[in-house]
Amino acid sequence: MKNNMEIKIKKASELGDAARNKIAELFVEGFYDTTLKYFSKDKVKLRNAFSPLLVLDLFYVAVVEDKIVGMAAHVGSTELALNLDKKILQKYLGLIRGLFFYFTFKSHAKHFKIGAEERTAIIDCLATDPKFTGCGVATTLMKYILGLPEWEHFVLDVVDTNEAAIGLYLKLGFHETGRRKAPQGSGFNYIIYMKK
Ligand SMILES: CC(C)(COP(=O)(O)OP(=O)(O)OC[C@H]1O[C@@H](n2cnc3c(N)ncnc32)[C@H](O)[C@@H]1OP(=O)(O)O)[C@@H](O)C(=O)NCCC(=O)NCCS
Repeated sequence: MKNNMEIKIKKASELGDAARNKIAELFVEGFYDTTLKYFSKDKVKLRNAFSPLLVLDLFYVAVVEDKIVGMAAHVGSTELALNLDKKILQKYLGLIRGLFFYFTFKSHAKHFKIGAEERTAIIDCLATDPKFTGCGVATTLMKYILGLPEWEHFVLDVVDTNEAAIGLYLKLGFHETGRRKAPQGSGFNYIIYMKK
């Protein structure tokens, strides 16, 4: 069924709060190894921290047979996909780690150096349910977002060890615009910036 499955793209906000927990779960699964495990080893705590913070208006989800199997956000240069709240982050991640996440996520967009006049979206939080990878879910989501009329250009970042994502972005016409040395001990060498 995986090869012929119908993948529908929906705006997360249209699915209401029912979508929140699933998106938070995909976020945690997708970014645990590269980033989130440094903030907490407990995936339930991570999910509880991020679920209320998701800005659903900015997310699209891929739906197969009524199940959310993938997600991605399109974010303007002055927006964030998470509505950062120190109290919530500190409640679940602890005082120091909660604050650290707050500042790390907040500063994430500044590296793209997008001019205020540009119609450029940051593509963020792309992840596919591990049970559905390799079936075209991320490709379908990305193509949908790349076709949105409100944006002219798209930027994103990806760690240099993420071959699956880099392969996908190159296939969709993204090119590298720069790279930054990754923090020591992060498990990867560079954060690569790409544009289309
Ligand atoms: C990266 C990710 C989103 C890909 O999702 P997906 O739904 O499996 O992607 P698709 O099935 O649409 O595959 C698209 C392309 O990605 C590349 N790709 C996917 N899996 C790959 C792998 N294991 N190795 C190399 N390339 C791979 C291929 O170019 C593939 O195209 P092809 O099928 O024509 O060869 C998914 O692996 C994921 O959620 N990873 C964890 C979160 C993450 O890293 N997000 C990106 C952050 S920048």
